Amino acid sequence: MADLKRILEAVDCELDRSLERLFGLLRIASISTDPAHATDCRRAADWVAADLADLGFEVGVRETGGHPVVLAKHLDGNRRHVLFYGHYDVQPVDPLDLWETAPFEPRITTGRDGIQHIVARGACDDKGQLMTFIEACRAYKIATGTLPLGVSVLIEGEEEMGSKHLPAFVGAFRDELAADVALVCDTGMWNRTTPAITMSLRGLVYEEVRVRAASHDLHSGLFGGAAQNPVHVLSSIIAAIHDDNGRITIPGFYDGVEELPADVKAEYAKISPSAESFLSTAGLKESAGERDRLLIEQISTRPTCDVNGIWGGYTGPGTKTIIPAEASAKVSFRLVGDQDPDKVREAFQAFVRARVPADCAVDFISHKGSPAVSLPYDHPLLTSACRALEDEWGNPAVRVGSGGSIPIIGDFKRLLGLDSLLIGFGLDDDRVHSPNEKYNLASFHKGIRSWVRVLHALSQ
Ligand code: BES
Ligand code: MN
Ligand code: MN
Repeated sequence: MADLKRILEAVDCELDRSLERLFGLLRIASISTDPAHATDCRRAADWVAADLADLGFEVGVRETGGHPVVLAKHLDGNRRHVLFYGHYDVQPVDPLDLWETAPFEPRITTGRDGIQHIVARGACDDKGQLMTFIEACRAYKIATGTLPLGVSVLIEGEEEMGSKHLPAFVGAFRDELAADVALVCDTGMWNRTTPAITMSLRGLVYEEVRVRAASHDLHSGLFGGAAQNPVHVLSSIIAAIHDDNGRITIPGFYDGVEELPADVKAEYAKISPSAESFLSTAGLKESAGERDRLLIEQISTRPTCDVNGIWGGYTGPGTKTIIPAEASAKVSFRLVGDQDPDKVREAFQAFVRARVPADCAVDFISHKGSPAVSLPYDHPLLTSACRALEDEWGNPAVRVGSGGSIPIIGDFKRLLGLDSLLIGFGLDDDRVHSPNEKYNLASFHKGIRSWVRVLHALSQ
């Protein structure tokens, strides 16, 4: 106990330097999905590797066929062994003009409520979060000279694009990645004062669809009324995906989706936020999702479909009277339960193909998918992790389902037999993937302290 107190004091004492280090990582524009930022991704990997080497980890930056992964080990023949996972890559920053300050020039701001935030792309997702773990290790080293258990660290650079190359890497280096449990810091809290352990994540299917008609853009006065307009065709196909109740109409889509057990549903009814309160930070009031579902179901236990982008024809200033030759959309599905990503993909493609009229052609670009994951409520380490979080935050940790996706978590189980403890300190209003992404300074500081307590608890 005396040890724990000293380590927590080391966290507090290092906080300014911890922030400086985080800012160093936040200054690197490691946008994985944009090939123009490939060297930035490598710089971020090198940065994380150097930071871990500085902490006494044995580190390698490993090639994957895509952006490199950082694999680091601090073993010392300890008993229990954890594998920490996070990602150094971030989402694109557009629309850039909506950022109040430049996305890769991190700064601390103070909100009207007096709460301090770290603002930058990746401040929360996932640089701020992954650094809470690394800084916890640093505090341990400063205060005790070592770590309380065996720690391997795997930081990848393709999470935000579906972790395309990581499963093959994990499969190939199974032995090196062996551990008793995976620890992940890439999820959220229940609210600003209530910590959470995430017990389920939704899966993802991501498709780009392009509809083509005429061989070139046409004068809409000369051809309008006769020529097929691919923007209309694509719009009507997208409009057909949902019915008036918000349900998805693609045949077979709900295969593998189960209703919640009655007792869980009753529990959820008690804790589900209202649509109004949940949506308020986004400037919205009313749920647009499935009717007759609790908000908490809509955002975590039900599958969904969203169009993430759509384009076609003239979008520049002024007017241009054409019938465009093609139209495209990026469409993604969140999966739950036993929904099979390959089957959902095929069902979506068949749904689209069946609606493409004469004179139109359709093609698809398929991105890597992942199934939903759920973690065991009876995991032997869950109770001690919950207690460690409660000690830090003063409120009991809740176990919740999340609507987001982390593709590799299912592969950890499949390829390594590893369960994951998903412990994160993000908040619903952190604007992850959006302009002005932030991480509360308290999330960062108490996040580091939380990991110290979790590592301490897991080493007992
Ligand atoms: N960290 C998020 C996922 C997340 C956020 C889980 C909040 C739980 C709570 C992760 O970086 C993410 O954004 N994943 C993508 C995956 C996709 C690009 C394959 C997602 O969910 O859209
Ligand atoms: Mn993330
Ligand atoms: Mn993300």
